[in-house]
Amino acid sequence: MIVDTHCHLDAKDFDADREAVIARALEAGVSKMVAVGTGEGPPDLEAGVRFAERSDVFYATVGVHPHDAAKVTDDTLKRVRELAGHGRVIAIGEIGLDYHYDLSPRDRQRAVFAEQMAIAAEAGLPVVIHTREAWDDTFELIERHWKPAGRAGVMHCFTGGAAEARRSLELGFYLSFGGIVTFPKALEIQQAAREAPEDRILIETDAPYLAPAPLRGKRNEPAFVVHTAAKVAALRGVTAESVAQTTTANFRAAFGRAG
Ligand code: NI
Repeated sequence: MIVDTHCHLDAKDFDADREAVIARALEAGVSKMVAVGTGEGPPDLEAGVRFAERSDVFYATVGVHPHDAAKVTDDTLKRVRELAGHGRVIAIGEIGLDYHYDLSPRDRQRAVFAEQMAIAAEAGLPVVIHTREAWDDTFELIERHWKPAGRAGVMHCFTGGAAEARRSLELGFYLSFGGIVTFPKALEIQQAAREAPEDRILIETDAPYLAPAPLRGKRNEPAFVVHTAAKVAALRGVTAESVAQTTTANFRAAFGRAG
């Protein structure tokens, strides 16, 4: 039994065989999947909730990805706030900053990130963070807008080095490892996966993106999370079962509503 704490099952990549993908995940022992609700961006904010409402296997997040920050209106934030009260929404995310693609102006990204942290704090939910080439601003905004809430958060698809790992852990965040940790050149990420405290690691696919080795380059799907678990286990010198157990317990601790 294992949890995929981050997947985009609504993605068009799954339109042809979504049910088979879900069946394969269950067969592979993936007992829970967190359907990330960023979808195609506003106004559609129910991309994750739709899965969570169909089966107990799914939980949902709700939020606006930094790519879509420019599309946010007052109505968008009002709807995020409403959906945060949905019983199967367990986090606000993925939210954050993406200075690699810069698909929305950076000042809009920062403002929308801060506003969504405020919604999460108000709702008593953790945040799931997407950050790319924006560590400094991400930490600064978390310090200012999230730390006072004293709640947990998740660094989704953690791709930082030792310094970013340390700072994230100090801020009470979990490090969630995705397919990239299996790539031979990802030495810094592997070091973080090896050294992070046992009670602060999570695993995810981020499907359909970034499939783990030995399936690198293929479309990713939740069933493949077992490869990421195996790699994290090898790095830490423990069994894959132990990583599955640990990360499942951590999932429950990080996402209180998923207890
Ligand atoms: Ni994602």
